[in-house]
Amino acid sequence: MRVTVVGLGYVGLVTAAGLAEAGHEVVGLEADPARISALGAGRMPFHEPGLGQLVERHVASGQFLITDAPDKASLGAQAVVVAVGTHDGNDGWQTATMRAALGQILPHIPDDGVLVIRSTVPVDFVRELPELVRSLRVRHGRGPIPILTNPEFTREGTAVADFLAPSRVVIGIVDDPSGRGERVVRRLYAGIPAPILVMTAADAALAKIGSNLFLATKISFANELALLCETHGASVEQVVSAIGLDPRIGSAFLRPGVGFGGSCLPHQVTSVVREAEAVGLGLPLLEAVDTVNDRQRVLFVDRIEERLDGLDGARVALLGLSFKPGTDDVRAAPALEIARLLIERGAEVVGYDPMERARQQAVEAVPGLRTVDDAYRAVTDADAIGLVTEWPEFGDLDWSRVATLVRRAVVVDGRNALQPEVLAAEGFHYTGFGRLAVERSLATIVEPRPAAAGPLDGHAVTGAPAPA
Ligand code: UGA
Repeated sequence: MRVTVVGLGYVGLVTAAGLAEAGHEVVGLEADPARISALGAGRMPFHEPGLGQLVERHVASGQFLITDAPDKASLGAQAVVVAVGTHDGNDGWQTATMRAALGQILPHIPDDGVLVIRSTVPVDFVRELPELVRSLRVRHGRGPIPILTNPEFTREGTAVADFLAPSRVVIGIVDDPSGRGERVVRRLYAGIPAPILVMTAADAALAKIGSNLFLATKISFANELALLCETHGASVEQVVSAIGLDPRIGSAFLRPGVGFGGSCLPHQVTSVVREAEAVGLGLPLLEAVDTVNDRQRVLFVDRIEERLDGLDGARVALLGLSFKPGTDDVRAAPALEIARLLIERGAEVVGYDPMERARQQAVEAVPGLRTVDDAYRAVTDADAIGLVTEWPEFGDLDWSRVATLVRRAVVVDGRNALQPEVLAAEGFHYTGFGRLAVERSLATIVEPRPAAAGPLDGHAVTGAPAPA
């Protein structure tokens, strides 16, 4: 089938490459010329495991074409899938990009084509769609086309696998009187084994947002459970291992720590609460999910401060800047807020992330943050190490070497990703979330060591020095 994908960002590029992999002829319509030439040269605009190979293969075979011309892009298209951004950058929605994209593409979609909205959109916007599409089509002398939504449930870091083997495919009907649109979307997924659910567009929008709200709720629940475990001397891992075996609950998304980040969970919790407030609807559970999540960042910084007896003049190494492993995305990443708080309280913060783009963007977002290109450099002369993103390489660090590099052997683990016993054996004072019982049994005394001269001399360093 011939498919056009409008917008080659996180969602669109995965959708386009995934549909090409599923055997469709795909044309990607992208407005940014720099992105088009980068993709043509085999450079991905962001890190997503497996995506580069897929794009390269299908571009080389001609199954995936990329253009900035809406007329060429939609020539002969049976389905036009729109996947442009809908976040306003301030925890709210914006539909201006979507409206502009529709304005560009709708005049060119053949009368036997189908419009599919893949972006996450607010429910109110879904209601406006039929009239918006109809008026744009009429203005250009075009006939009516079916309108459907097809929300995505892919996770950054595993998006390709999630696209090719989804837990479900949801089709939302906006306007499809003959059922032709539904048949076309079903054919899009013909080669992909997954249950297909067809529902109203409002149901589909809430199924998408509701999934994320529930995941966020689970994480905030785990964060409160961890505090409860600390109060009662219990171990959160043990508790979750038992809770999670109940098939009604499951063990996923119950890892406590610095809380959830990224472009989806924080945005959707905040925007839903805000919209509900605006219409006088109270959502105290979701408000609490947000409050707990914000508090986790503060708790993490408090824990570092307590271990060091104050942050003024202390050097803190932050390991991990992206919002989770497997991505270089720092949107609403806990590390950014944590770095800001640490700097505000007088600390000097040196960050490290395996992804260069994450390091660059973190430095741009947080005044005073410096980054280095190696974990061992980051920890050199640190008074405390804060693990924020559980990249596997942090678990594999040579902790006996780290112990010789730091000024004070303090580790606060914001993801419960490290093994307290391993760190204690190297003389570290370890703090996690909900692991107090283990920590107490391993407690060591933290003695400051004098700083080695010029710890970062000769190493790649980005960013401004922290304010004095
Ligand atoms: C999320 C959803 O998981 C996807 O299903 C959805 O398609 C996507 O949003 C979207 O709306 O586009 P993503 O933002 O990629 O995916 O990230 P998640 O894997 O959900 O992780 C979100 C945050 O929660 C991360 O910061 C992660 O570290 C944190 N997290 C996750 C925890 O703090 N604890 C956990 O137990 C699990």
